[in-house]
Amino acid sequence: MTPPEKNPGWAGNVGEYELTEVEIRGEEFVGKRPLGGGHPSASATYPYLLATKDAGATLFEGDYLIRFEKIVTRYPEKRAALLPTLSLAQEVRGYVSPETMDEVATLLDLSSAYVRGVATFYTMYNKQPVGKYLIQVCTNISCNLCGAEDVLRAFLGETETDLGEISLDGNFSVVEAECLAGCGFPTCVQINSKYFENVSVLDVPEILNRLRKNLSDDSEGKGVEE
Ligand code: FES
Repeated sequence: MTPPEKNPGWAGNVGEYELTEVEIRGEEFVGKRPLGGGHPSASATYPYLLATKDAGATLFEGDYLIRFEKIVTRYPEKRAALLPTLSLAQEVRGYVSPETMDEVATLLDLSSAYVRGVATFYTMYNKQPVGKYLIQVCTNISCNLCGAEDVLRAFLGETETDLGEISLDGNFSVVEAECLAGCGFPTCVQINSKYFENVSVLDVPEILNRLRKNLSDDSEGKGVEE
């Protein structure tokens, strides 16, 4: 399979950067199903989530301001830009607090109540801080029949967390997810914006080690793989 030359707008907000699939996901994630996980289909709907988050970052400045301004121009009225703007805010800050919802309301000339009503409706907006890697384990029917509960327990055990908690090292949060639309490849796990499919309990330590390696590569200036 030949990967598309241009990112077709994956995750909704990165198309304007004209990034290639390779630039977004890394070579090993494009055009094949790597054994280590990370299906090229990834998530089309979940806001792009980075390992690096800054809960105190300004909404918006620099490249993010440029992106916000482009998002607003796509719609006939500002209100219609609410979902991608919330996604962008989450990409910057890692989660969408009530204060962030209020800031977004101001940016889009909406009432706080309206924005809070929308943001709290969607589970893909994190309402509380998450670790550098948010691990979402699908426990819906297909995955459940194939051992998803055990996979979930393995992630919780290996990260020494309870559901939704941030691990002591700040690296991981593990949550249960409803169907991630990868039902043909259970158990499906989404980590930040990437899919890991056919995950079994035995895969869990390797996946976590790989994520830890990503973070240590980043601390050595090699760049983090998101
Ligand atoms: S049931 Fe797990 S991805 Fe659909």
